[in-house]
Amino acid sequence: MSENVQPVTMQQRGDIAIITIDNPPVNATSQAVRAGLLAAIEGADGDARIAAIVICCAGRTFTAGGDIREFGKPPLLPMLFDTCARIEACSKPVVCAYHGTALGGGFEIGLASHVRLAAPGTQLGLPEVKLGLVPGAGGTQRLPRLIGIPAALELAATGRFMKAEEALKLGAIDTIVEGDLLECAVDAAHAAIEKPMRRSGELPVIAIGAEQAQELLNGVKRKARGQEAPVIAAQLVLESASRTTPQGVVRERQEFNRLMETQQGRAMRHIFFAEREAARIPGLENATAKDVKIAGVVGAGTMGAGISVALLDAGYNVVVVEQNAEAAERGRSRIASIFERNVASGRLSEQAMTERMQRLSIGCDLMAFTPCDIVIEAVFDDLDVKRTLFSQLSAIVRDDCILATNTSYLDPNAIARDTSNPERVAGMHFFAPANIMRLVETVRAQHTSAQTLATALAIAKKLRKLPIYSGVCEGFIGNRLYSYYRRQCEFMLEEGALPHEIDRAMEDWGLPMGPFRAFDLSGLDIAWALRKRQAATRDPANRYSHISDRLCEMGRFGQKTQAGWYKYQNGKPVADDMTTKIILEASREKNIARRSFGADEIRLRLVTALANEGARALEEGITLRASDIDLVYINGYGWPAWLGGPMFQASEFGLPRILEEVQKMHARDGSEFTPAPLLVQAVKHGKPIDGSA
Ligand code: 3HC
Repeated sequence: MSENVQPVTMQQRGDIAIITIDNPPVNATSQAVRAGLLAAIEGADGDARIAAIVICCAGRTFTAGGDIREFGKPPLLPMLFDTCARIEACSKPVVCAYHGTALGGGFEIGLASHVRLAAPGTQLGLPEVKLGLVPGAGGTQRLPRLIGIPAALELAATGRFMKAEEALKLGAIDTIVEGDLLECAVDAAHAAIEKPMRRSGELPVIAIGAEQAQELLNGVKRKARGQEAPVIAAQLVLESASRTTPQGVVRERQEFNRLMETQQGRAMRHIFFAEREAARIPGLENATAKDVKIAGVVGAGTMGAGISVALLDAGYNVVVVEQNAEAAERGRSRIASIFERNVASGRLSEQAMTERMQRLSIGCDLMAFTPCDIVIEAVFDDLDVKRTLFSQLSAIVRDDCILATNTSYLDPNAIARDTSNPERVAGMHFFAPANIMRLVETVRAQHTSAQTLATALAIAKKLRKLPIYSGVCEGFIGNRLYSYYRRQCEFMLEEGALPHEIDRAMEDWGLPMGPFRAFDLSGLDIAWALRKRQAATRDPANRYSHISDRLCEMGRFGQKTQAGWYKYQNGKPVADDMTTKIILEASREKNIARRSFGADEIRLRLVTALANEGARALEEGITLRASDIDLVYINGYGWPAWLGGPMFQASEFGLPRILEEVQKMHARDGSEFTPAPLLVQAVKHGKPIDGSA
């Protein structure tokens, strides 16, 4: 917005004042908008020629809420809750005309108005909890007065967007208008003149019983899994029954301000901007993605089936090829059973499942890929197998068909070597289950063209996933860092900790699953095979823990063999004396005097392992920014968004403390844990690791 342009303007049409907010890109309620809106309402209220008021927005959306860029800075008056109170108190009817996404403060402006209209397709909601906050302009007080406590509580605690139809049914809006929104709003304003005014804040709240209230709150606590904002949002909605709106708004504001300063609040704002930043990839500014209609998938095992489901869900025609007819048939049932589970849980209709299965063709002849715009390979992670496959594919598919590999550890440059034009090869590393996990590490190999990369990113986005750029290195971003994390987990065992203690420290911190439970779930055999491959080239000067090898030698591969780090009783992990015995032996063999570990030390040590290797990956250009690493861990490794990711947590511990910890690791565990120069520089200059954030 240029400085001379007013973000809020008022136009008079007969006796109706039309107030328009125009603050691209999403009409956020920044200070100038709040001040302009307040002045316009006061002006119209005091103007004898005006009988009613319309509030609408220019551009693609109604306001998407508070200006997040102002958050965490000293508040600038007027506050939106005051502006909303003024709208509600206006002596003339105020009609709010929603369109696009009316979120947070945007939705709240309407809740304070006297009549609410929405254009078809409008989405409304209170997503503040996704920023670690609660609504701050009366949302938790006015919404229950309009739609009742249970529905308001659910919306405020989840931050879910609702469609206009649902909002109408619940009573959050009065009408969905089919014609021109502004004309309809002006008509509604005329109709409201001299009718009794309905002020949401003055409506009674229909109270619910104490038992139901407790049940609702407990449900929110369970789902929040340690996140504070949803629980506070739910409490505020419940409290609306025992307070007047002005009293409730004061309480709401106290909580809004308090949460703004918490680590969770800062972490979630960091993640909001990180996600938008991740889409900016240097060198792709002028690249256009190819139009993709038909996608091929090689392999219909767990990964291939998951990828196929994601592609079918996104509307692509999908061609899957397996090794033989039986494998193809098994693949078809694997794909169908994922859809069937979604039908059984009510997430998908029978009809939608049938339509998706009709877009799938599955067989065992690679020639079926000839019409494809992209083929994604998801076969066994073996370099020779993949190289041969890519060479065969490049002879079959169209010259402009993109070839993507889903390898997790192999070198995409080596996979692309025998293809006729390696510029159309990229990595698309999905995470299991591929139809659910949001992360796709999108890998630029040595020859990958800008258009190939742009297309891979666009497809991942169309699958409603989060593509994160990665360069080529073993394990790409996520698994590369994870191997340092895994080793520190095992070293702590040798030094005195037990698996369940490390798991508890990380789970109490917010991870849905501690590292050892996660290792057991994904299986210990894959990492074992990798270690065996690397054994010949391993530097003996670096510390190596044999504990995991011992478990594997006993056939303990994790949950799938009913034993790994834990033993499993009815699918539940139980600490196992055998594991403890192996751990104690390992300490004895190395003459390590065992000691106890506190939760903070465990967290610091694991964050350090991730952050130091993250800094190295940054230095090498494997990853573009520290915040991308955070997104990888949140969307691929189960870290909750409110922890902000490992690089965010490294800053929270303080980079000097992280450096000190790496120096200890280096002295104790060998050169693999040498402090990353970027980390050393960051501490020296008192700056973030990549100078961003
Ligand atoms: N404040 C400041 N900037 C915002 C913003 C906001 N509330 N919402 C979006 N933007 C910016 C984005 O950072 C992005 O900027 P960039 O182009 O420089 O990266 C640009 O607007 C476009 O955003 P998206 O890329 O996300 O565009 P989409 O079309 O994909 O999504 C959206 C649009 C659904 C509005 C999405 O941006 C969104 O969910 N925004 C956040 C909405 C929100 O959380 N609102 C509540 C704010 S808190 C509040 O209202 C407090 C109140 O209760 C007092």
